[in-house]
Amino acid sequence: MKTELTRRDLLNQSAKIGSTLALTGVALAMPTGQGSGKKSEEPEVTATEDLMREHGVIRRALLVYVEVVPKLRQNAAAIDAAALQRTAKLFRTFAEDYHERMLEEQHIFPTVRKMGPELARYADVLIEQHNRGREITEYVLAVTNGPKISTGHAEPLARAFEGLDRMYENHAAREDTIVFPAWKKNFSNKQLDELSDQFEEIEHKMFGKDGFEDAEKTISGIESTLGFADLAQFTAPPPPKR
Ligand SMILES: [Fe+2]
Ligand SMILES: [Fe+2]
Repeated sequence: MKTELTRRDLLNQSAKIGSTLALTGVALAMPTGQGSGKKSEEPEVTATEDLMREHGVIRRALLVYVEVVPKLRQNAAAIDAAALQRTAKLFRTFAEDYHERMLEEQHIFPTVRKMGPELARYADVLIEQHNRGREITEYVLAVTNGPKISTGHAEPLARAFEGLDRMYENHAAREDTIVFPAWKKNFSNKQLDELSDQFEEIEHKMFGKDGFEDAEKTISGIESTLGFADLAQFTAPPPPKR
């Protein structure tokens, strides 16, 4: 319990510090509001950072799925189906309807598509994967829509989680390291700042004032329900002695 509180406290603290830094950072680093492309003049919080922290929430939903896989294979009836249903709903609204459809498919991919065949190919595959993810979420929503997960659904659901996790880990890692940095090159700091505001507006329209914060709270609550809240349980064992 103590660990959970400490972790939440830290998150709240860092969110507050982040907002303060964002305000002062923009004021200090961009006195004229013009971007020269130099690293030191970049605003503290950019549209790409927003996208990447959204990946953080999405990855935590995927980690819930992955942690549930062995339990599905051992005793599916003992799993809290409602918690998985909540995870799938978060994945649908926050990852698929907002992050993917409203930001990446509307803003990011159309821009990088124009930057050459390699990035255009990335955009094609990434959209294909968004669509496959939506099919998998549809399935997860259907089979977790009851008090228990039936024995017949246990193995197919475990495989669906493994497939989604493998796809999305690769997907988000390429977006973070290839697609988002390429997209960012098209804009000055001032334009990125404006895009960040635009993204925030979309977030507010879809979820109210605290879209990201609420999504983080939701995934935190799901982790607590399923016993995954304490980060220390995931520390790897030491390697074998040589
Ligand atoms: Fe994506
Ligand atoms: Fe993404």
